[in-house]
Parts: sequence; structure tokens; C-alpha cells
Amino acid sequence: MQRLTVPAIVQMKGKEKIVMVATYDFLTASLAEEAGVDVILVGDSVANVMLGYDTTLPVTMDEMLHHTRAVARAVRRCLVVGDMPFLSYQASEEEAIRNAGRFLKEGGAQAVKLEGGKEVVEKVRAIVEHGIPVMGHLGLTPQKVHQLGGYKVVGRNEEVAEKLMEEAKELEKAGIFSLVLECVPWQLAKRLTDELHVPTIGIGAGPYCDGQVLVLHDIVGLTPRSPKFVKRYANLREEVLRCLREFREEVKEGRFPTLEQSYE
Ligand code: KIV
Repeated sequence: MQRLTVPAIVQMKGKEKIVMVATYDFLTASLAEEAGVDVILVGDSVANVMLGYDTTLPVTMDEMLHHTRAVARAVRRCLVVGDMPFLSYQASEEEAIRNAGRFLKEGGAQAVKLEGGKEVVEKVRAIVEHGIPVMGHLGLTPQKVHQLGGYKVVGRNEEVAEKLMEEAKELEKAGIFSLVLECVPWQLAKRLTDELHVPTIGIGAGPYCDGQVLVLHDIVGLTPRSPKFVKRYANLREEVLRCLREFREEVKEGRFPTLEQSYE
């Protein structure tokens, strides 16, 4: 099976929608691969979804690499993108290059993603110059949750929207191969998609992006709740709860195991 490469993803713009999911382990990554997903983002949302933190800020490089390796072992065709955690790229270009490189060298990813606009342009340029493909991320950038004052739509205000347009173009010049747009009004996402040469991948950014990303655990309804922009295609949470309750009851009452599940 042939790997979807970074240039192949770029060439999908305007021809075929890009399907990306965020997930963090071998089992769910192999399901995503089998379903024909194009890109797996090993998102720093692992902090909330899997590790029980309130924000994405505490997750470390070593934790991200541990999850990236598990995903990389599961897939042959999907492009694997490692999400650079808070403080792994902000402090200096040198740190940004070194940590981005670790996702490829130690994690088995083919690209990295990092959040931000103007303040990360030079870091993006430096990482790309060293042969490491970078996916940008604008709009709601959860690593700035304390500065933003919560998880909100970004870009309703004209001034903020224009700044976002400018930053997207600067990131494109710096060499990003695609751009995640999180929680931006669909009109702004459409404008960005029309004006950029690289594909946009939306999450809460409406239907006109070149691709869409959601957290896998939201798609299948495992998370306790999800934001308005999520579509839950199943309610696995209810199903898992039903199974566990039944298992508990059967063990308590001595109905599991039967001799059928026993060895002679
Ligand atoms: O960490 C993550 O899951 C993400 C997506 C929301 C794009 O960054």
C-alpha cells in the first residue's frame, strides 16, 4: 500500500476533499486507516481526550512521541502528522527544529502541526528549511486558551478576520503545506480557502474548506460531550456502558463465565 505523501495531500486541493481525524493509539489508528481516512493527526487534544487534563497545555514531547509511535505502527497509507505540544516550539528556532525533527525521527510521523500566526512564521520557515513538512493552525488555537479567555469562535470581528487572512498568507510563504482552521466563521474560511494555494482543513469552520478534521472519539460518540460543530455518527459511549454494566451484573450474579467459556 502506498503512503499518501505531503505533495499528494497538497494536490488534492480543489479536486478531492481531505479527510483527517485526530487520534492517539494503535487500535483506533488502524480503524481510521481501514476506513480510508487520508491523514491522522496525533493531536495534543490527547491531553483532554485521553489523559484527563482540562487544557492541552500539560502534555509533553515525550507523551506526544509515545502516542505518535503507536499511531505510526498502525498505518501504511495514512499520512501521520504529529502535533507539537505547548512550549516545544515557541522559545527558539533551534528548539522548534529539534522537536519537530523528533516527531519524524523518533515518532515515525511524516509531518508536524503547530499553532499560531506571525509569532511562529520564522519557526515554520526554519523547520521547513530542514525538510520537515509543517501544517499550520489558525483561528481558535487551544494552546492560547488563557489569553483567548475560553474556547470561542475567532474572526467574527473585521479587524481580527483581516489579521487572520494576513497571517495565513505569511504562513503560506513560510512553507506550510496545509492549514487547519478551527472555529472560524464559514465565510472567512471560504475566503481563506479561495485565496490560499495550500489546502485548508476545517474544524468548526463550515463546509467550504478543502478538508475536514474531527477527533475520532467525538465522531463515534465516545466522549461525554462535544462542541456544536461535531457530528456524532454513533453513540458508542452508551453501547460501552451497556456492555460494562451487563458484564458487571453477570460476574456479580455468577452468570459469567459459563462452562462454554471455560477449559476442560
Ligand atoms: O489536537 C487536536 O486534536 C487538533 C485538532 C482540533 C485540529 O489540533
